Amino acid sequence: MKKTILVAGATGNLGNKICRELIKRDAAVITIVRTATDPEKKEILTKIGVRVIEADLTKTDEIENACKGVDCVVSALAGLGDVIIDLQKRVLDGALKAGVPRFIPSDFCTDYNYLAPGENRNFDLRRQFKVYLDSTDIKASSIFNGAFADILKYNTPILNLKDKSIGYWGEKADWTLDFTTMDNTAAFTAEVALDENSPRDLQIASFQISPNMIRADVKEATGQEFSMQQLSSLDDFAQFIKKQRGDNPAGEFELYAKWQQAQYMYSMFSTHHHQLSNLRYENLSWTTGLEYIRSFVK
Ligand SMILES: NC(=O)c1ccc[n+]([C@@H]2O[C@H](COP(=O)([O-])OP(=O)(O)OC[C@H]3O[C@@H](n4cnc5c(N)ncnc54)[C@H](OP(=O)(O)O)[C@@H]3O)[C@@H](O)[C@H]2O)c1
Repeated sequence: MKKTILVAGATGNLGNKICRELIKRDAAVITIVRTATDPEKKEILTKIGVRVIEADLTKTDEIENACKGVDCVVSALAGLGDVIIDLQKRVLDGALKAGVPRFIPSDFCTDYNYLAPGENRNFDLRRQFKVYLDSTDIKASSIFNGAFADILKYNTPILNLKDKSIGYWGEKADWTLDFTTMDNTAAFTAEVALDENSPRDLQIASFQISPNMIRADVKEATGQEFSMQQLSSLDDFAQFIKKQRGDNPAGEFELYAKWQQAQYMYSMFSTHHHQLSNLRYENLSWTTGLEYIRSFVK
């Protein structure tokens, strides 16, 4: 029987792609949006066949109504505590009241279960929501995709196209980093949403690539030799981030404050995925590091 999936955050980058992947797989897709949502974004979803329900997302009963008959709720919401904790709790409460059996929270990051609390503000918010999620009877599945591969394009210290440099912390030039394209993440999430037997945690990566491997791929893609730069020890990086955070209190209200971006990189050099579920769904294909680097390094 056709499954019905409700996607919260469907007007966002990842949410929109998840909706498309679900529709490709013949699911009925519903989304709940706030009244303030850009009408154009709603129209895009309606055009691809998503049923868009406008609701007051401060009211659990409105969310409950939208969740009736739904097989799985997928959250691709993005934000700070008011969204990742408060709004996701209301969405979950609405789903529970409507008897939805399954929930996918908006994790979509490095598997923070292997990191110490306090090292990454945005992961701590997810951890806090996870405690609530796991206290309920709903069957949850978290998808851990490492970093979206797009960040390789943003001239971070990991790959700086302007300076033609590749950076790493500590002795970690051979440490593999987990990157997943947003397309691969969306396709995998759609499969998980339709899979009643999916486990609690799923680690994925389109490609696992070390700084030295990035250098080799850049060379193969372009013939150019980028320089390797050892940046500092990881301990010094942690101290630097602490100071940067202390000096920038306004960043506490920004989703991607500069020090938060540094915290993401610190996390990537502190843990990596060791049990990939990439092969769980046979019909998926994964972008390789070289393919991805070729797509933007000229
Ligand atoms: N691993 C990585 O490298 C990485 C990178 C980027 C993002 N992510 C994660 O991926 C997930 C999706 O991110 P994204 O970039 O696709 O997000 P996005 O494009 O910013 O979309 C955010 C979605 O959340 C909704 N939203 C935000 N605040 C809301 C509020 N107060 N009330 C109701 N709806 C609200 C937005 O709705 P409106 O249209 O109404 O604003 C939109 O649908 C998040 O968990 C994010 O942290 C991971």
